[in-house]
Amino acid sequence: MNHPVDRSRVVSGMRPTGRLHLGHYHGVLKNWLRLQHEYECFFFVADWHALTTHYEDPRQIPDNVWEMVVDWLAAGINPNVATVFIQSRVVEHAELHLLLSMITPLGWLERVPTYKDQQEKLKDRDLSTYGFLGYPLLQSADILVYKAGLVPVGEDQVAHIELTREVARRFNHFYGREPDFEEKAQAAIAKMGKKAGKLYRELRRRYQERGDDEALETARALLEEQQNLSLGDRERLFGYLEGMGRIILPEPQPLLTEAAKVPGLDGQKMSKSYGNTIALREDPESVRRKIRTMPTDPARVRRTDPGDPEKCPVWQFHLLYSDEQTRDWVQRGCRSAGIGCLECKQPVIDAVLAELAPIQERARELEASPAVVRNIVHEGCERAREVARETMDEVRGAMSLVYR
Ligand code: TRP
Ligand code: SF4
Repeated sequence: MNHPVDRSRVVSGMRPTGRLHLGHYHGVLKNWLRLQHEYECFFFVADWHALTTHYEDPRQIPDNVWEMVVDWLAAGINPNVATVFIQSRVVEHAELHLLLSMITPLGWLERVPTYKDQQEKLKDRDLSTYGFLGYPLLQSADILVYKAGLVPVGEDQVAHIELTREVARRFNHFYGREPDFEEKAQAAIAKMGKKAGKLYRELRRRYQERGDDEALETARALLEEQQNLSLGDRERLFGYLEGMGRIILPEPQPLLTEAAKVPGLDGQKMSKSYGNTIALREDPESVRRKIRTMPTDPARVRRTDPGDPEKCPVWQFHLLYSDEQTRDWVQRGCRSAGIGCLECKQPVIDAVLAELAPIQERARELEASPAVVRNIVHEGCERAREVARETMDEVRGAMSLVYR
């Protein structure tokens, strides 16, 4: 268990794959768009993570980074509310990664399912490298350096968040201990004032003696609302609730949003490697052509043959884009051969084009002013660095790396 130091901080990264497609939009970006208004968000391009697999030829990375950032912004990521930056420009991630590597047992990394899976999948690459093994630990550093409370990720990344939690716990266990912890905690309680201090002690006792989780939650809420505690004291008292140490790196939670699975043009998952995508910046004429030539239920050889939407990838698009009424029309028209496939596809074409129009409009503006994009990222890096530096000061202090 950990306390949510700052429940309102969200961190997420994406590897620089270049221009994004509808799968990214519905699977990840729409989620980010919502989160940026609810939390303090840090969204970054994980360029170092790209190097863990593509170290042999990194020349494409910079273009991919900028193309992806343009798509983020075009999709509506607002740099006035969210911090948008590039991982390698905030070197604190690397320092924390290094320090965490000192305390991370090799077995923990070897056991992460993506390690063997990806090695199997990317057989043409030599992934028996130090950097690749450390992939999830670098991700842990990405998250912990901002003390994020929540990390929006897909199912495949949950094991990485779990590792992050274990590493944070181990870190706090080793370095959160102070010789005079008890005295400092008592002094901090005194600063809360009589009433709140008494309540805190009572709640702590209820949790420690009886494992009363509700008492723990209440005590945390009580600490959150204390105005006159320093950051250090607050963390001490969060730690004191559960044991005898300070929590320096809080454990994050994964934020699993059931991502709308966007079908590709062929009914498989939409993915660049399957060549079945519609890019966010896909030319409208190309969108029309791609959807018009999409395969349909193979039973509909002739216009007069009835079909079954369940066996047709176009139906998946209707589920994503069409209202009840249109879906009814598809179901009936398909099964009775009342409508033709091209007719059936038209509402999908219209919906995709309508969705992409404002995105493409913004993308054109951003493409026309690369300096604006560079500047947004530059400022994002600065803002991220400020937060990351604060954490690293604490981390260095806790690990006795301060020289005076
Ligand atoms: N590994 C993530 C992915 O492949 C990308 C990533 C890197 C990330 N660092 C992160 C995601 C930190 C969330 C938080 O999707
Ligand atoms: Fe697919 Fe629509 Fe054709 Fe039916 S009518 S096979 S749902 S495209």
